[in-house]
Amino acid sequence: MAIDVNLGDANGQVSSNIYGQFIEHALDCIEGGIYAPGSVYADDDGIRKDVVGLVQRFAPSVLRFPGGTIMCQYHWKDAVGAKENRVWRKNLIWGGELSPEFGTAEFIRLCRKIGAEPMLCINMASGTPEEAGDWVEYCNGTGNSYYARLRRSHGFEEPFHVKYWCIGNESYSEPDMGIHHNVDCYIRDAMEFIKRMKLTDGSIKTVVVGCGEKNWNNAVLRKLHAVTDYFSLHYYASTKQGRVYEPFEGERQFQEMIEEISGCINEYPDKVQDFNPWYRFAPRQDKIKIAVDEWNIWNYENNDTYGLKPVYCWRDALWSASMLNLFIRTPAIGMANMAQMVNVIAPVMADEKGAWLQTIAYPLIYYRRLMTGERVDVRFDSPVIEGTGQIEALSVAAVRNLGKLCVAVVNRDFGRNYTMRLSGYADGSGEGDVTVLTGDGWDAVCSRDKSCVKETNIRIADGEIEVPAGSICLAVMYEK
Ligand code: AHR
Repeated sequence: MAIDVNLGDANGQVSSNIYGQFIEHALDCIEGGIYAPGSVYADDDGIRKDVVGLVQRFAPSVLRFPGGTIMCQYHWKDAVGAKENRVWRKNLIWGGELSPEFGTAEFIRLCRKIGAEPMLCINMASGTPEEAGDWVEYCNGTGNSYYARLRRSHGFEEPFHVKYWCIGNESYSEPDMGIHHNVDCYIRDAMEFIKRMKLTDGSIKTVVVGCGEKNWNNAVLRKLHAVTDYFSLHYYASTKQGRVYEPFEGERQFQEMIEEISGCINEYPDKVQDFNPWYRFAPRQDKIKIAVDEWNIWNYENNDTYGLKPVYCWRDALWSASMLNLFIRTPAIGMANMAQMVNVIAPVMADEKGAWLQTIAYPLIYYRRLMTGERVDVRFDSPVIEGTGQIEALSVAAVRNLGKLCVAVVNRDFGRNYTMRLSGYADGSGEGDVTVLTGDGWDAVCSRDKSCVKETNIRIADGEIEVPAGSICLAVMYEK
């Protein structure tokens, strides 16, 4: 079947921060997965070289840490300075112990090794505004203040320059520790944390907690919009029922949620002018962006270690690529972090025998290489996958970058091939190369010994892309 795709003009830069990742002190995401001093894989900093090598293939732009839910009990001072003086605690959230050995400095080192911008999440549940402000000072302070000097005494002369700071995590969630599941409590306390943190370093960017609930989002934006740079939204799709197309079932609802939040953001000025000078720090200077700072497929009701150890299949890679298409197409989205990077609902797996990639790593690798630059408008009518009621077979996004037009097409239908007929892009020659990624069936998985992902490359001359069933096609076309 042939589908006409009309490509419009380029209309703004896609944020490279949509290619972010997240790590948490949960099971073996960090301990064993990333940090394994003494192991054959570790470098001099105790960080696994094999894992870094794989992560560099998809080069996350931002890395979020230390949680997640764990931040409810996380005290940064436990995990800085000499290792022998660090404080171990029981991991109240995910079980086992909360090791302080991979703390702020080790996290910054990891970010530098993989080229990611660090993003820290502060503890609003059992921490204080003062503790959060001190963390900002420890990371970014340049003068003679106690915490800037403390960092230097730990061997780090230069500031860490941490720009992104999450003001809590999923604070609406009643089962989590803390009192902030009440939106008024969240707003009241978030403001005090932000004041202390922005007074310490006025250049930091704050990420406040949003969710799928309209009343929460409206209240948070109404009261905090002047001091908020990003609005967080977490999204986990499910595969609990075992239906082939199940993760795609929530796609439309998620898109509607994004549209609703961006509508709400649009009610506020792009740049805040009217701000009481007695706050003594500058208000927001740019439009608020949505940060989907946790996203993935996760069956959290699974009793086995909270379902945190899934083996992802090829269908899940198509879902991940579709999410990236959505992030590219949506100007309101300024950041997105796949949760989590290693071992826990993760694209990278690592154990004592080595490290390997799951299926969901492949879209990240190819998109990071090709799908950056200016967003190009895409118009087409997608057929629906037979028997699913409303799931669209095709997901498409396009960007323009350095004289090239890159179009990503995901055919989520495992029973049908399509021909995409591209038109409307004024300078496009219609000539180019297409990388086609396929798996060996929807339920194919990668293992430590073998990847199920197959890459083929084809030339196109007439702007028509043949898109096989269950595939990701990335076309690169050149200007005339
Ligand atoms: O990523 C796993 C968990 O999912 C995080 O700790 C929490 O923020 C979310 O509910």
